[in-house]
Amino acid sequence: MREILVTSALPYANGYIHLGHLVEYIQTDIWVRAMKAQGHTVTYVCADDAHGTAIMLKAEDNGVTPEEQIATVKASHEADFATFLIDFDNYHSTHSVENQHFSELIYRRLNSAGHISTRDVEQLFDPEKNLFLADRFVKGTCPECGSPDQYGDNCEVCGTTYDATDLINPRSTLSDATPVLKTSKHYFFDLPEFEQFLQDWTRSDNRLQPSVANKLQEWFDAGLTSWDISRDAPYFGFQIPDTPSDEPDKYFYVWLDAPVGYMASFKNLCEQRAGTDNALDFDHYWAQENEHKTEVYHFIGKDIVYFHALFWPAMLAGSEFRTPTGVFAHGFLMVNGEKMSKSRGTFIKAETYAEHLHPEYLRYYFASKLSDKVEDINLDLEDFMQKVNSDLVGKVVNIASRSAGFIVKKYDGMLSDVCAEPRLLEDVTKTGDEIAAAYENREFSRAMRLIMQCADKANEYIDDKKPWALAKLEGTEKEVQDVCSVAINIFRQLMVYLAPVLPELTDNAKAFLNIDDLSFHSRNQWLLGHQINKFKPLMQRIEQQDIDAMVEASKASLGESQEATNQATVSQKTDQTATKSGADVVEDNSEPTDYIGIEDFAKVEMKVAHVLACDYVEGADKLLQFTLDVGEDKPRNVFSGIRKFYEPEQLIGKKVICVTNLASRKMKFGISEGMVLSTGNPKTQLTVITLPENCVVGDLLA
Ligand code: MSP
Ligand code: ZN
Repeated sequence: MREILVTSALPYANGYIHLGHLVEYIQTDIWVRAMKAQGHTVTYVCADDAHGTAIMLKAEDNGVTPEEQIATVKASHEADFATFLIDFDNYHSTHSVENQHFSELIYRRLNSAGHISTRDVEQLFDPEKNLFLADRFVKGTCPECGSPDQYGDNCEVCGTTYDATDLINPRSTLSDATPVLKTSKHYFFDLPEFEQFLQDWTRSDNRLQPSVANKLQEWFDAGLTSWDISRDAPYFGFQIPDTPSDEPDKYFYVWLDAPVGYMASFKNLCEQRAGTDNALDFDHYWAQENEHKTEVYHFIGKDIVYFHALFWPAMLAGSEFRTPTGVFAHGFLMVNGEKMSKSRGTFIKAETYAEHLHPEYLRYYFASKLSDKVEDINLDLEDFMQKVNSDLVGKVVNIASRSAGFIVKKYDGMLSDVCAEPRLLEDVTKTGDEIAAAYENREFSRAMRLIMQCADKANEYIDDKKPWALAKLEGTEKEVQDVCSVAINIFRQLMVYLAPVLPELTDNAKAFLNIDDLSFHSRNQWLLGHQINKFKPLMQRIEQQDIDAMVEASKASLGESQEATNQATVSQKTDQTATKSGADVVEDNSEPTDYIGIEDFAKVEMKVAHVLACDYVEGADKLLQFTLDVGEDKPRNVFSGIRKFYEPEQLIGKKVICVTNLASRKMKFGISEGMVLSTGNPKTQLTVITLPENCVVGDLLA
């Protein structure tokens, strides 16, 4: 029996849970439930990430103490997780005695092994707030292009990255005061000393996904640098122990004690369970010598790989704890193919979603999209409705609803004693092995596909046997019972397979099926001569109006205050330390902007073009091929996906708009050297924009 400890990343205690976060918690929860259902001993812990400047400032804004602030947020996080059926064995906080204990212990061990050093760092300081300013809290004029109002790490207009100290006319975004340069002593963790260890660690034992390992190689190539782990007062966090008494207090940077929170939450659980039947031993999971006896897995988003695949294993190895067995990164959530957007109403809070739609719809949809890759996943709201309605309601639940009635009404709920179609049921039972493996390998989309194939087989079988027609004939009683019993048995197998994804639905199905076990091996015991209960509808269809209402509510619910929160959240990941240690590769999951500056718009070069020739493309049923005069020496070759809407003759001789500085694209039929602009919807109707006759070929559009 395997003993496995699993974590999800700890959400920041200064904002609400949104659908993006849920990708991770749902992914982890499904994995944990699937591994438990396969008989392993699995413990799933998490916590709020409660420290840092952002949380301190947020509390100040709200006029409460940081402790009050984090308590309120923790309660709201726990409520959201419960709603989405995320079944943590423990949910703790990094602002806890256990976390302080282990953070100090790890620091002291690193320090006595010589892995900590100090040096002076010069930084911008807000003299009014008495606070050192992380880059995101400083704004000023870009030293490169002169654009005003740019953040302290890079210019959004010209893209230059620089140090906050290079900004012209800098000011603090917290007080508007002009920051001053101030020097203070910082503590550093000597990451480069761990280079060899990390090179080996990241490449062995399949600990990381291949694409993550490749990313790390880039970081190794760029060279590791020591990591600034201290912050000056005022800071909401733990004081660094053993610093000279005549020097100002120093605090651990939030990212130092955040991953230690995994241990702390587990330790807290060990204490809760001490003396019970399912007691847990801390050292059994975390002591270095037990590295191969128990397994530890961290599920994280791709934006925090640096912290989990470099800093964290180095900290653990340097302080004589075991390192994780695996770190699994997932991609980011897109909605309708784009970054989540407030103005489009696709930046959706967990809470808002749950007011309109059942959480299990989302669990299933994410499962149907998730794989072991680091790819972004897209929540296409139309596809979401379609898929849930057709797979879960139309295929799975339908099997039970079409067969249960007969069994209950005509046979007092009794299933046949013998299986009339053993080959079919064996087939579905056997597919369970593949499904179990797919879950374990985090190939959830494959698991869902296999499950739906089983559902299809059951529906084909029922369609073929037509119990409703049989029931009208005489002397077919036994056959009707047999057919419905086979269907109910397949439905039971499907409940076993879907239990990790749909814990509530499958729990309700247990009552209907009159069984109490949905573990994976329970499926080998078929339901023969077994009595079931009356069927109650297990899931409603998603209605378009519910989705619309959720999107509308999301547009309404996100006001100014949240803007500030998300800004601050970003700052924690991209502030000084992370940036200096390679976080230029750390994805900025900041709020999507719906606007581009005039400078971005000006980058697109559009010219008046004359259509010299227009032709069908052999073998391409969507494309037309244009030969365009755009006022250059040579005409350009451009492909456009409008064949469905035009005959070539309709366009020859017309003046159209061509984007002329689009990078050439090599297509199957040749190279496309631009883009012809049209309007409408590529699925239904596209209209090429034509210009008046008197426009001059080659002229720019602006
Ligand atoms: N507090 C840190 C993690 C510390 S772990 C020791 C943090 N918090 S977070 O609230 O910003 O994110 C929590 C998790 O949710 C991270 O793994 C992050 O990648 C994930 N996601 C946050 N937004 C996301 C999307 N839009 N899409 C997918 N996952 C996202 O990072
Ligand atoms: Zn600039």
